[in-house]
Amino acid sequence: FNKKITLANGEQIPQIGLGTWLSAPGEVGKAVEIAIRQGYRHIDEAMVYKNQPEVGEALKKVIPSVVKREDLFITSKLWNHDHRAADVERELDETLAQLGVDYVDLYLVHWPIAFPAGAFVTRHPDSSKEEFIVDTSVDLVETWTAMTELPKSKVKSIGVSNFSIDHIKGIAEATGVWPVVNQIEAHPLLQQPELEAFCKEHNIHITAYSPLGHGLEGKKMLTEYPEVQEIAKKLNAEPAQVLIAYGAKRGYSVVPKSTNEARLKTNFTQVELPEEDYEKLSALYGKYGRTRFNIPFTYHYAPSDLKWDVNIF
Ligand code: A2P
Repeated sequence: FNKKITLANGEQIPQIGLGTWLSAPGEVGKAVEIAIRQGYRHIDEAMVYKNQPEVGEALKKVIPSVVKREDLFITSKLWNHDHRAADVERELDETLAQLGVDYVDLYLVHWPIAFPAGAFVTRHPDSSKEEFIVDTSVDLVETWTAMTELPKSKVKSIGVSNFSIDHIKGIAEATGVWPVVNQIEAHPLLQQPELEAFCKEHNIHITAYSPLGHGLEGKKMLTEYPEVQEIAKKLNAEPAQVLIAYGAKRGYSVVPKSTNEARLKTNFTQVELPEEDYEKLSALYGKYGRTRFNIPFTYHYAPSDLKWDVNIF
């Protein structure tokens, strides 16, 4: 259990990781420390989570006394306002300083969308909605080229997140360098079979974020669905374990978020999902709608000739 999966470049990613998106300040550091003491070896981070400094403090407490740096797998992600070639390595350096490490194991382009330089998040002033300004003058290929040129001493592997087939094709065909990972929201309600097949064909490993369905419209957690609960009951497991096992059975690495000690432990304790239950979960696809990935915010302007194809969402 908690096996490692070998990526296209030979690096290995532990199957179960700790998600830290929306982990509250004051809680996330403790969660990381507890998780590592429990055996977690894969931590999923990003500049935009705004909690890397606290996680860095936690890492100091466990490296090297509990775990050696080389036995940890740390992911972080480039935020949308630093997509220009000149900014990519600078933001990586900020991330390394915040986390207090010399390198990350995996560095991802967080979204296939650029914001204006310096605009960490740009909320449109006369709108109550979450709207962001997309800077269409930056080409995704520019960003990816800069990613490919990052020093190997600072990044072991590079990949993408929230990328569609077209985005991946665009950067890979232009540069000849394929991402080794695409991190996407993935769970029984959001299977995206075409994207999965494409990734498989090109040896792009999928990391599933929000495996418990956090962020779904309506805010209902997948752990609350009767079909999931029924399988959990039968297996004498928690609904979350069933959902994590589902992602693992598809070959994904899975990064559930928790800051609760008991739930951290539950999520790290893998259960075997029988084929028939896997099929039952797979059959949920389409039953509750939301079969396509929805970008969680709209864009203030999106000209029809966008190089960054936000319209596909
Ligand atoms: P908490 O941090 O209090 O445990 P996702 O990873 O899909 O985004 O889901 C994260 C959400 O699921 C968080 O609200 C988290 O709350 C909750 N959660 C994490 N682990 C479990 C679990 N084992 N059972 C139920 N809810 C969980």
